[in-house]
Amino acid sequence: MAKLAICGGKSAVPQNRKWAKWPISDEADVKLVARITRSNRWSYDGPTEWEFAEKFTAYQGAKYGMCCANGTVGIQLALEALGIGAYDEVIVPAMTWQATAAACVDVNAIPVLVDIEPDTWNLDLDAVEAAITPKTRAIIVVHLYGCMTDLTRLQKICKKNNLFLIEDCAHQHGSFWKGKGVGSFGDVSSWSFQESKVLSSGEGGFNMCKTKDLFYKLYSLRNCGRPYEASPAVFGLTKPANMAATTLQSGNYRLTEWQAALLLGGLKRLDKQVKLRDANAIRLNTLLADIPGILPMRRRSEITQQSYFNFAFRIDPKELKVDNRQFCVALNMELGVPELFEPPYEPLNNCGLFKPQTKTRHILNATYWKAVNPKRFRVSVATNAHENCGVVAHHQILMNTASDMELLAGVVKKIVDNIDELRSVKPAALKKYQALAR
Ligand SMILES: Cc1ncc(COP(=O)(O)O)c(C=O)c1O
Repeated sequence: MAKLAICGGKSAVPQNRKWAKWPISDEADVKLVARITRSNRWSYDGPTEWEFAEKFTAYQGAKYGMCCANGTVGIQLALEALGIGAYDEVIVPAMTWQATAAACVDVNAIPVLVDIEPDTWNLDLDAVEAAITPKTRAIIVVHLYGCMTDLTRLQKICKKNNLFLIEDCAHQHGSFWKGKGVGSFGDVSSWSFQESKVLSSGEGGFNMCKTKDLFYKLYSLRNCGRPYEASPAVFGLTKPANMAATTLQSGNYRLTEWQAALLLGGLKRLDKQVKLRDANAIRLNTLLADIPGILPMRRRSEITQQSYFNFAFRIDPKELKVDNRQFCVALNMELGVPELFEPPYEPLNNCGLFKPQTKTRHILNATYWKAVNPKRFRVSVATNAHENCGVVAHHQILMNTASDMELLAGVVKKIVDNIDELRSVKPAALKKYQALAR
């Protein structure tokens, strides 16, 4: 008789089982949103926005920060504030959400895709060093899923080669490296508050930066080019000495007071939630490490608190003789939640949503057009993670109880123990089983 749910056996978890939901809010959030609705301050340098900006920046240990429209725009503003533009090369990890590279193209820079480490899926720093050319101006590090690259070495590489460091922190609100918050390491960092993120206002973004001058530039860039008037004065900053120099060509990338209200509420809960996810991830990784053919991701010893946008692990396809798609569908069938576990992002050299050669505004000249073609990059580790070994789930699975982590590991073990059954499921039939789990 079949044991695995995908083969007609009994699922490991009852179909009506309730899992933690995301996003979440509380009554205090609802009250603040209502207060803003009744007020006549809905946007534009509002008090809620700046209260949040100062508190979030302090939490991550950065110097200055401000809200912006979303995490895609945040990267674009970071690049523009650093003066990066046409024909400049920017190193970007091959595995990330497409926005990291798309923002480079939107400022007419050239994203240079670099492969990732097999056990963290974050930037491979040997590959980074090999990709640096005289045209390189910046490196964008993405603290991806629940791992980090060696930030200390990365800072040294930037210093040695006179490159800007931009941190894309969309996945890691509340992560700390050697006790210092991510987002405070780069010249500028960018954050996303999109619905799925661990700090969320539905949509929204944020930039942190190291210097006053970068703050003034970012302020102007997000606010139609207007200079910072210190009204209100934030971060103890007065008006820039030369206001004209901070008046820039730009558009409107601001965020509303309602979004800021949700963010203030979310920030109050953030650290406790990050700690819960981190403790559960450590527990789950310890259990997964004991299962043959399952490889947890590497956690560097310098990480003092790890935030998880997604929880990831790898299967060994050679040992198990199945791939990650087969494994994910089997897991989802056992848990009764369609698409809970999925392969990680498509590598950007072959990503359905990263198509830089489709907008006429990007046709600067034939050389540029060729340079932004993502197909020219070979990124075998990112490809293997997406196509063969990577398994990823949204952070809400880590917001359940410690005993749920035992249950999840038990489900993974059940599949491994009965891997012969899974091997017998034809890949072509996987789609049908995915539909059955709905
Ligand atoms: C790594 C990364 N960077 C940037 C973004 C873009 O953020 P947003 O969706 O807020 O534009 C995302 C969003 O998923 C992301 O995951």
